[in-house]
Amino acid sequence: MRTLREIPALREALADVRRRGERIALVPTMGNLHDGHLALVAAARERADVVIATIFVNPMQFGPNEDLDAYPRTLEADQAGLEAAGCDLLFAPEVSTVYPRPLEAQTRIAVPEVTEGLCGGSRPGHFDGVTTIVGMLFNLVQPDFACFGEKDYQQLAVIRRMVADLHFPIEIVGVPIVRAEDGLALSSRNGYLSAEQRAVAPRLYQTLGELREALEAGEATGPTLARGYARLQQAGFAPDYLELRAADLGPVTPTTREAVLLAAARLGATRLIDNLTLTLPR
Ligand code: PAF
Repeated sequence: MRTLREIPALREALADVRRRGERIALVPTMGNLHDGHLALVAAARERADVVIATIFVNPMQFGPNEDLDAYPRTLEADQAGLEAAGCDLLFAPEVSTVYPRPLEAQTRIAVPEVTEGLCGGSRPGHFDGVTTIVGMLFNLVQPDFACFGEKDYQQLAVIRRMVADLHFPIEIVGVPIVRAEDGLALSSRNGYLSAEQRAVAPRLYQTLGELREALEAGEATGPTLARGYARLQQAGFAPDYLELRAADLGPVTPTTREAVLLAAARLGATRLIDNLTLTLPR
């Protein structure tokens, strides 16, 4: 697996791939890879001749008081993991390569509506940073497929909307959440948790599971969510949100059947997110 740092080298490598008429799958990441990321590479491998991963801790998607500086940078281990997973090419640029101008002078991509509320509400500007970098990577790599995890449910919906609105000829592949044995969704941020917090963290998934069961059995949404919120607080979480939305992230109406429960909650300074899809009864 080759690691490229510069845009001209990436373009040159891609020109060879295109000359050979091969199909390209892109796996954008911020590094510190775990089995969830490797599942993205596996999904990419199934679909394409050439798999390109990117590692870039994107400053534009972090708020002023977020963990940009603390975000783990583990390039050597990531390279080994990607190579073993069958990745062909890694693009790992410096910040100054991606954003040669100050961030505030940088052209941005902003997706309306689907970015409102949930993580878009608790992390203002976050999704503009995500769509700007992902749109830029789409433009640089021009893949046939791009793979994203379903753990970031709203991010996946936002990227799908961007691709539709800007007519990117790219198939977006959503890859199911990979969980630890105790149910905790794998995330690079799990590494911030103390041993005690790590023992509590699976309660987020367990609570969503209990709520799903209640909602699928026809219990009323308001009291069910309020009970879940209280359970999370009792377990030691500070919830950012706990919501039921239609699967497309629109509001739940009496005719909604396919829905999703979404939560973000802090354990100490660590913000965890998770979601479960469900079918509401008639
Ligand atoms: O999901 C992530 O790791 C990031 O938001 C992404 C899609 C790589 C953009 O920086």
